[in-house]
Amino acid sequence: MRPFPRPGSDSRFAGAGAIVTGASRGIGAAIARALAREGLHLLLIGRDEVRLSEVSAEIGAAGGTASSLVQDLTAPEAADTVTRVVVERLDAPYLLVNNAGIATAQRFDRRPREEWERELATDLLAPLRLTYALLPILLRQGRGQVVFIGSASADQPLPRLAVYSGAKAALRGFGRALDLEVARRGVRVSVVEPVYVRTELGRRPTDTEPPLERRAREHPSSVLEPEVVARAVVRLLYRPRPVSRVPLAWAAGHALLGVLDPFLTPRRRLPPPGSDGRT
Ligand SMILES: NC(=O)c1ccc[n+]([C@@H]2O[C@H](COP(=O)([O-])OP(=O)(O)OC[C@H]3O[C@@H](n4cnc5c(N)ncnc54)[C@H](OP(=O)(O)O)[C@@H]3O)[C@@H](O)[C@H]2O)c1
Repeated sequence: MRPFPRPGSDSRFAGAGAIVTGASRGIGAAIARALAREGLHLLLIGRDEVRLSEVSAEIGAAGGTASSLVQDLTAPEAADTVTRVVVERLDAPYLLVNNAGIATAQRFDRRPREEWERELATDLLAPLRLTYALLPILLRQGRGQVVFIGSASADQPLPRLAVYSGAKAALRGFGRALDLEVARRGVRVSVVEPVYVRTELGRRPTDTEPPLERRAREHPSSVLEPEVVARAVVRLLYRPRPVSRVPLAWAAGHALLGVLDPFLTPRRRLPPPGSDGRT
């Protein structure tokens, strides 16, 4: 087994390949820029061709190497298509960043089934499928990393985001278990769990301002910039570990919340059988 990259040896990643999903904007675009600065050669994936090529061109203009692939990752053939393109375009695939995700805030019982199933497919099934397709390449090399962008909502589930919180909690369980399976074979798996980040996540067509932009304006200290998450991903290149909570203050707060959770969670009595279900 070849050794993992040592902290501080920047040139170690020069020419190594990285695949970043959801790289057309937000956290994914920030991760792509940060990895390009580390010398990695990038394959950027998303559905918005114009924005993807803007990110790719920006990286190229700054001296980095990036190409893009327009792909809906929920399509049944997506993982095979990405694998083919990875083999064609990346000399030495090293890192897969499963970042693409969507979130819709709505009560579960009011959501159309096809719509929440699409969310689950994007946030959980697609990253697992892509990992399943690309993992053999990393294992054959005896070196590589897989990063999932999870969420603090895995620990602090939010009402109206039950599907999203569930998908992110599942990603954490999956990522930690997979890390135990493959670490001895030279591949490390990490889950990055940020709190609120200023991006377009959850924007509906009718929104004049994305909800997280509004939150950033109203409560600036509660919202991170995407670059903070990108820096956490770069740190994992040098020091892989199973779970990285972002920011550091949340990592500490998380431990405290674990203890306080039973007292913070509202306790409601179950309605008696036969009632209309309102509490
Ligand atoms: N913002 C936050 O507060 C926050 C907090 C914790 C975790 N996260 C996680 O961070 C990740 C990135 O989210 P973000 O905040 O940067 O949101 P964003 O600005 O809405 O970006 C989401 C990205 O995912 C891509 N995407 C969505 N569906 C896709 C599909 N079917 N196929 C391919 N690409 C798809 C989008 O690209 P196209 O539209 O071009 O397809 C876009 O590039 C997500 O996993 C999210 O759950 C976000």
